[in-house]
Amino acid sequence: MDYAARITGTGSAFPETRMTNDDIALKLTEVGLKTSDQWIRERTGIVERRISDVNNSAEHNSSLGERAAQMALEMAGRKPDDIDQIIYATCSPDTIIPATACWLQSKIKAHNAWAMDINAACSGFVYGTVIAEQFIRTGRSKTVLVIGAEVLSQFVNWHDRTICILFGDGAGAAIVERESAKSPQRIISSHLVSDGRLSELLHVPAGGSNMEITPERYARSMHKMRMNGKEIFKVAVRTLTECALRSLEQWGMRVDRLDWFVPHQANLRIIEAVANRLGLPMDRVVVNLDRFGNTSAATIPTALDEAIRDGRIQPGQTVLVDAFGAGLTAGGFLFRW
Ligand code: UT7
Repeated sequence: MDYAARITGTGSAFPETRMTNDDIALKLTEVGLKTSDQWIRERTGIVERRISDVNNSAEHNSSLGERAAQMALEMAGRKPDDIDQIIYATCSPDTIIPATACWLQSKIKAHNAWAMDINAACSGFVYGTVIAEQFIRTGRSKTVLVIGAEVLSQFVNWHDRTICILFGDGAGAAIVERESAKSPQRIISSHLVSDGRLSELLHVPAGGSNMEITPERYARSMHKMRMNGKEIFKVAVRTLTECALRSLEQWGMRVDRLDWFVPHQANLRIIEAVANRLGLPMDRVVVNLDRFGNTSAATIPTALDEAIRDGRIQPGQTVLVDAFGAGLTAGGFLFRW
């Protein structure tokens, strides 16, 4: 028996607190830096983002993941006991040890599953879904919960105006299930790439095993993200376009036959440039970045969930998702909903 993998449910969750561009401008004034709502909107397309209150356990990474997972289970008509594998994509875990996947497993009581984290930064959900697909196609897994969730506000340097304007917190989830290989509704093709030569473009220097956080390093914010935004921008446009084309080519699909494009939400100008290169009109592109900013591994599952729940993505339609992130990691997959 040949198996395919199908996405059968999605969910998403965000913290309550909204931080508008004006709120950020005010916060930066306190440390002697300037930005404005107009600059952020024009250069990024972001209007506001959600920020977790880490003193509230309901807004921890795994708690946002829990809410998103419950919504996805409900849509798929599955119970926690049905899940046999959990893949949790995050680069802002609850704890370094154990995996956030295990905290989540306990919260949703998915006791029949085995659980692991993966870190592919903003490409995490795409990597996680393709891993799930592989386990399903070999017959090893039947019902996989894939989560992309981040509380990156904890790793943002609030004294760096090129970074703190971009990121927001949130979680998205998908149930990926075993399906007959003949089913039209399935993951059709995928393409993953990494280029470790570009690791320094976006990284957190301290806090890993090769550099502990000393008071001196803490004072220099070395436990926070460092980013070369301009360079990432260029690489992102090129890589997203390439990954999208490779996923389409594998299936021999023309861009004009595609119903929806759900790209990683980092910057509206990146999304528009990629859509333009692919020859896709923006009314077939799902965007949620204006309201949530860049939620890293959560951007694609939350955008997907929104477009499925509001009826834009209809059963039988073909959707291309496409991501890039720190690493550099990138990838896309094509599926029929
Ligand atoms: O998931 C991956 C995560 N990272 C990314 O996706 C980042 C991709 N890159 C970007 O989104 C853009 O490069 C940024 C939004 C980060 C920056 O936009 P940009 O159009 O590349 O601006 P820039 O770096 O070329 O800066 C233009 C000017 C500079 O001033 P001068 O040198 O021209 O006087 C910056 O100092 O804008 C200044 N600037 C700001 N001004 C107001 C930079 N950040 C800000 C700010 N507010 N927040």
